Amino acid sequence: MNLKQRAAEAALHYVKNDSVIGLGSGSTAECFLIALAEALRAGKLRNVRGVATSEQTARQSRDLGIALVPLSQAAPLTLTIDGADEVSPQLDLIKGLGGALLREKLVAQNSDRLIIIADSSKRVDKLGVKSPVPVEVAQFEHEMTATFLRSLGCDATLRAKNDGTNYMTDNGNLIYDCRFPGGIDDPAGLNAKLQDRAGVVESGLFLKLASMALIAGAQGVDTLTR
Ligand code: A5P
Repeated sequence: MNLKQRAAEAALHYVKNDSVIGLGSGSTAECFLIALAEALRAGKLRNVRGVATSEQTARQSRDLGIALVPLSQAAPLTLTIDGADEVSPQLDLIKGLGGALLREKLVAQNSDRLIIIADSSKRVDKLGVKSPVPVEVAQFEHEMTATFLRSLGCDATLRAKNDGTNYMTDNGNLIYDCRFPGGIDDPAGLNAKLQDRAGVVESGLFLKLASMALIAGAQGVDTLTR
């Protein structure tokens, strides 16, 4: 079993029978979907349904036989399990390298509890030292939003697909990946500036949202709590 699978397996412990849980996106979240489907098949868990945070997670869940419901029919959720691109010691996160940040944050904000699953490579002392911050932006005059993003001190790169065309989110928006040299000194201040700007739809800064992180490393799974 690899580290992502170990973190995913550890998260099963927090899933209760007869519940609806938020299902994250990305490769670690997919490990969790596989573990959840197996636990349901084996009868270790009963009647657990999910709210998907991306079209890809919805497809994967359907393929694995996990029943889905819309967030609006199930909120507030007791629990969401999701991956992350960076996890700080305060459990602040960067998410969205997979492009699902808006739906991931919407589901997380409508959950009592967000548990992050990750391998130890995602741990950082300071947000932004390894990963850019993905920022989802409206298509309309997005070059102006890019100018604003660069004024915040980052290198902002419009995300493209392998064929060179613009990457589009599930919501029909674009993404700028914003790399801050030396990391982000003031994540809360940056978040406030991003939230205040027209053209910015959502950012991959997830501050004070995670209550727990299950981080799998060579020595086992560490449980970090806020
Ligand atoms: C998806 O948009 C992201 O927020 C993912 O949760 C994040 O990129 C982690 O993905 P991996 O588990 O594939 O590293």
